[in-house]
Amino acid sequence: MAHVLDKDLDRVLFSEEELSRRVAELGAEITRDYAGKEPLLVGILRGSFVFLADLVRQINLPCTVDFMAVSSYGAGTASSGQVNIVKDLSESIEGRDVLVVEDILDSGNTLSCLLALLQSRKPASVRLCTLLDKPSRRTKAVELHYCGFSIPDHFVVGYGLDYAEQYRSLPYIGVLKPAVYGGE
Ligand code: IMP
Ligand code: MG
Repeated sequence: MAHVLDKDLDRVLFSEEELSRRVAELGAEITRDYAGKEPLLVGILRGSFVFLADLVRQINLPCTVDFMAVSSYGAGTASSGQVNIVKDLSESIEGRDVLVVEDILDSGNTLSCLLALLQSRKPASVRLCTLLDKPSRRTKAVELHYCGFSIPDHFVVGYGLDYAEQYRSLPYIGVLKPAVYGGE
């Protein structure tokens, strides 16, 4: 079905069907790896909310969900290298098996700061699950345990991912036309 926001996309990168198939695979992998445990999924707001909602329903284990909000982007398309905690977790993670769920791993600035902070709170374990990975943009090494898709260096939107807070509601992931953000 055509969406009113399609005009701002160059092309669709992952359809709804491709996303749901891959999310089901990730859920099955997480279910196997955490068998006998009760993971705490930590969604990073706001980009992870759609992915997390789908992923958690594919994990066949008792699990709990909490959220953190960090800011590193303004309305631009590159990370600032500084992370501010806008909203912290509601519960203690001491002794918990924490699985951080994020929309995309790009430079690694945001997640390397965040993972170090979570580690300092004495969880039993911390792992990272991102829907997308842009390895070519990495400036900080980050260990990625579960990854939906590795993608080239395009700015993508939809399925929770935004540009200037828009496009999160698109049910698929598309490449944003550079003209929209003043690119070439
Ligand atoms: P990093 O600190 O550079 O790894 O930035 C990670 C954050 O940047 C992600 O959580 C996203 O919010 C945002 N981001 C990076 N690349 C994209 C993209 O292609 N589309 C939308 N948001 C992006
Ligand atoms: Mg964002």
